[in-house]
Amino acid sequence: LNFHVARERGYILEVLFGGLRRLEYRGYDSAGVSIDSSPGSWNGGATPPPLVFRQEGKIASLVKSVYEEAAASDLNLKESFSTHAGIAHTRWATHGVPSPRNSHPQASDSGNEFLVVHNGVITNYEVLKETLLRHGFKFESETDTEVIPKLAKFIFDKAYEEGDKNVTFSQVVLEVMRHLEGAYALIFKSRHYPNELVACKRGSPLLLGVKELEDEKSAAASFTELKPLTSNGHPKELFLSSDAGALVEHTKKVLVIEDGEVVHLKGGSASIFKFDRTACNSGGTLSRPASVERALSVLEMEVEQINKGKYEHYMQKEIHEQPESLTTTMRGRLLLGGTSKAKGVLLGGLKDHLKKIRRSRRIVFIGCGTSYNAALAARSLVEELSGIPVTMEIASDLVDRQGPIYREDTVVFVSQSGETADTLQALDYALENDALCVGITNTVGSAIARRTHCGVHINAGCEIGVASTKAYTSQIVVMVMLALAIGDDTISSKVRREAIIDGLFDLPSKAKEVLKLDQEMEDLAQLLIAEQSLLVFGRGYNYATALEGALKVKEVALMHSEGILAGEMKHGPLALVDETLPIVVIATRDTCFSKQQSVIQQLHARKGRLIVMCTEGDAESVCAGGSCRVIEVPQVEDCLQPVINVIPLQLLAYHLTVLRGYNVDQPRNLAKSVTTQ
Ligand code: G6P
Repeated sequence: LNFHVARERGYILEVLFGGLRRLEYRGYDSAGVSIDSSPGSWNGGATPPPLVFRQEGKIASLVKSVYEEAAASDLNLKESFSTHAGIAHTRWATHGVPSPRNSHPQASDSGNEFLVVHNGVITNYEVLKETLLRHGFKFESETDTEVIPKLAKFIFDKAYEEGDKNVTFSQVVLEVMRHLEGAYALIFKSRHYPNELVACKRGSPLLLGVKELEDEKSAAASFTELKPLTSNGHPKELFLSSDAGALVEHTKKVLVIEDGEVVHLKGGSASIFKFDRTACNSGGTLSRPASVERALSVLEMEVEQINKGKYEHYMQKEIHEQPESLTTTMRGRLLLGGTSKAKGVLLGGLKDHLKKIRRSRRIVFIGCGTSYNAALAARSLVEELSGIPVTMEIASDLVDRQGPIYREDTVVFVSQSGETADTLQALDYALENDALCVGITNTVGSAIARRTHCGVHINAGCEIGVASTKAYTSQIVVMVMLALAIGDDTISSKVRREAIIDGLFDLPSKAKEVLKLDQEMEDLAQLLIAEQSLLVFGRGYNYATALEGALKVKEVALMHSEGILAGEMKHGPLALVDETLPIVVIATRDTCFSKQQSVIQQLHARKGRLIVMCTEGDAESVCAGGSCRVIEVPQVEDCLQPVINVIPLQLLAYHLTVLRGYNVDQPRNLAKSVTTQ
């Protein structure tokens, strides 16, 4: 946060804390904040060190400790600042356990000459640390981040010693960047540049938000360029964040910072510079960077989207939002057909690439976690309608193996956040191998959206619960539409495609129907509350549902759960079956139905404790031959059934978690957006 207008200290803190609360879903093991100690401090003379507060645990414990410390030290929350630069961070540990010492901001020294908050990972920090240790720096944390402020101080001191007394804050940061390897979005604050912030990024997301404090309307019209940001003379508040969710309540005018860019905020104005690795420093003077001009864009996000509304938890809200999120995903993309026009789909981001996709020798789906499962759910339909073989890759595994990717391949990257480090690395690898790269992401402006050749936005709306729910069902729908678009030129599948399109139209209302199982799923959760383990058997379209249902139970309810391909039952899992272990069998109507019936019989024969998910009206027949509990779901087109079937399992996972007393939205040890490897 950087501004140039009178603001009280209490206001500044609350804006920073508010941003942290919005970001807490991305990291919640510790947090920290830094603000200026006195209003006049920047205006020449000796600068007192910025104040730093850091705390282990959730944002609430940081907030509490800051106000307690403020009260104890007579820090006046009413004191007014005419300009100020504050930074804050919520952490998800990569190097070093959660503790105040390892929290950010990390400092260059006890005088807080340079402070840094960091999202990402510095891969060469050990080498840098050794060098800095040799120069007398003392390290107090176990983080990779700590080398960064120390490096900044080292560079600043050296420039000063060598006579460059006019070295700017952005020059120091550009020089720091030359030494860093890895992925990062960084914000620097410094005692030497009290009303300034400098941010830079490579690999991790970073957004600049611009809020004008007067005459919002006329300012919006004249505000297309960023340089100089003060052109219309309006006082501004400027925000930097790794996530749009922290900005939207302040402003919708944002700039997506590109890799290699440095943003310099000073007294409420901003300039952007491009990092150039080849630029060299001469005669002890740091290179003077060239600034770049960039246009602002407008966020399509409403504050209500990131509030819980009437729900107790984000996961609950997001599960119940699925009729709407499915509708927004399909909005404007389904063509109804008419007397002269065929039914079809329109995917604007793909239309110029469809011919090339149809000529591919192979389609490769790549993702992690839930996104991988969504791709798996759509795999067989893409094969069916395109006639092209589809292979599945978990991003990290493809990278580990350096598996073959060819220029004749179409590689589809599926990612809710669009920022998952493994998926991004797989994308770089596919780009190096000249494959056509397609992105399917829920985040406009994300790295995957920008770096792929073409793609489709999921448009499911912001998802905050760490366990993905509505993004999953919307991802499946996007990939179903992808299959329809690729197969659009095949006459023989026209009837099938039209049936699927009709099914897509009906899908939101069917999702609404299946949500009525909420109470039933809570009752089931009550029954399973003390279990150690839950198996989920599926096959065909619903093998993915079994994996995803089990993943939900595992990640939020902290109960061991495994999704099993029912065709593999006799090759191991059957050994686990007894009268106590609960097993969910997905046996809705499709071409695998009779095989699933036989699986149920075999499980009955071993006295398995069954919960069968079946199509409405099938309850009696599927359970003939033994006792079982049933979950009846509405029938939809076979390839869309995974969208409906997963919803009761999401509800089950949700209720199990609440009943077991765990945190639904922030499960232990997990992060929403895994931006490090
Ligand atoms: C993390 C999240 C999951 C998500 C996965 C992939 O593990 O906790 O919910 O499915 O990352 O994330 P992406 O943003 O690439 O879909």
